Amino acid sequence: MKQSAKAKAHTNIALIKYWGKKDPELFLPMNSSLSLTLDEFYTETSVEFNTDIEKDCFILNHEEQSEKETQKISRFLDLFRQEIGCTTPIHVSSQNFVPTAAGLASSASAFAALGAAMNSITGMNMDLSTLSTYVRRGSGSATRSLYGGFVEWQMGDCNENSLAVPVDDASWDIAMITVAVNTKQKTISSREGMQLTVETSNFYPSWIESATKDLKDIKQAIHTKDFEQVGLITEANGMKMHGTMLGALPPFTYMEPLSLEVLAKVREIRGQGWQCYFTMDAGPNVKILCRQSEAEAIQTLLKKAFPNNPVIISKVGGGVELI
Ligand code: ADP
Ligand code: DP6
Ligand code: CO
Repeated sequence: MKQSAKAKAHTNIALIKYWGKKDPELFLPMNSSLSLTLDEFYTETSVEFNTDIEKDCFILNHEEQSEKETQKISRFLDLFRQEIGCTTPIHVSSQNFVPTAAGLASSASAFAALGAAMNSITGMNMDLSTLSTYVRRGSGSATRSLYGGFVEWQMGDCNENSLAVPVDDASWDIAMITVAVNTKQKTISSREGMQLTVETSNFYPSWIESATKDLKDIKQAIHTKDFEQVGLITEANGMKMHGTMLGALPPFTYMEPLSLEVLAKVREIRGQGWQCYFTMDAGPNVKILCRQSEAEAIQTLLKKAFPNNPVIISKVGGGVELI
C-alpha cells in the first residue's frame, strides 16, 4: 500500500444534461448524459494515509473544511477503504483551478481527481471504466471527467453498469468559451436542485423523454462531425433542463438577468455567421460551444459586449492523470 498519491482531473460540461437520480444512494441517474471535457478548468488532489490523525482531514484551496464537508469526503473514501479492508484516516488536500460550487462543474473534476488518487494509493488500480462506477458515487458528473473529449455516462441499472464511455476525442476544431456571470457559490446545490425537480416538477417526464432522444441524435451528429447539429441539440437540451426547474414547487432558476443577456448575444453572434451555441448548468454562468478556430473572434465580440465579465476560452481537455 502506497502512503500517498496525487491526481489531476479536468471539469466537463454536459451537452446532454444529467438532472436527477433514480437511486440517490448509488447515484444512478434518470437518464444517460454526454459531455465535453475542458482543458482550462481542473482540480488537483492529493491523498495521504496518516496514522497520526484520528479521522479524515480535508483541505480545499488551503483551508480546512467543515465537519459536514469532511464527512462527505469520508463516505467517498470509505468506498475504496472497504475494498481493501482498511480504516486508516486519510489526509486529503485539494486545489480547484475552477470556481467552487458556481455551476462550473467543480464537483466533476473534484471527485474524478480524488477517485483517481484513491485508486492509486489503495493499489486497486482499476481501469477507468470500473473506476467511473466509484467516482460516480462522489458526484454523478465526475463519472464523465475520467476521460477526455466527448464522453457518455451510460445510466445503466445497477452500480456496475452505470459508467463512463469515451465517445470521441473532439479533435475536430472544437472549443468552449465560458462567460463568467457570477462565480459566487450557489445557494441551491446541484444535488438539492435536481432532487426538488425530480420530486415536484410537472415537466420532468417530458424532460426524460426528450433527453433520451437528444442523446441519440447528438451521438449521431458527433459521429458524422455535424457541428451545427451538435450545437443546436446542445442548446435545446440545456434550456429544456432549465425549464424543468420552472415547473418545480417551489419554482426556481439558476439564471440571472445577465445570463439571459449573454444568451441573446450568442444568438446575435451566430446570426453574424459564427458557429456558437450556448449551454448552462446549475449556476448563472454561460458556456458556449464553438469552433476552436473561431474562439478568439467570438471571445472578442463577447468581451466587447460584457467588458466587466471574464470571458475564458477552453480547449478540449484530456483524461485524468496521476501526478
Ligand atoms: P459545481 O457546479 O461546482 O459542480 P455542485 O453543487 O455540484 O457545484 O458541487 C459543489 C460541491 O462539490 C462543493 O460544495 C463541495 O462539496 C464539492 N467540491 C468542490 N470542489 C471539491 C474538491 N476539490 N474536493 C472535494 N469536493 C469538492
Ligand atoms: C447541471 O454531478 O454536480 O451540471 O451527482 O448530486 O453531485 P451530484 O450532482 P452534479 O450535477 C451536475 C448537474 C449539471 C448537469 C451535468 O453536469 O450533467
Ligand atoms: Co457539480
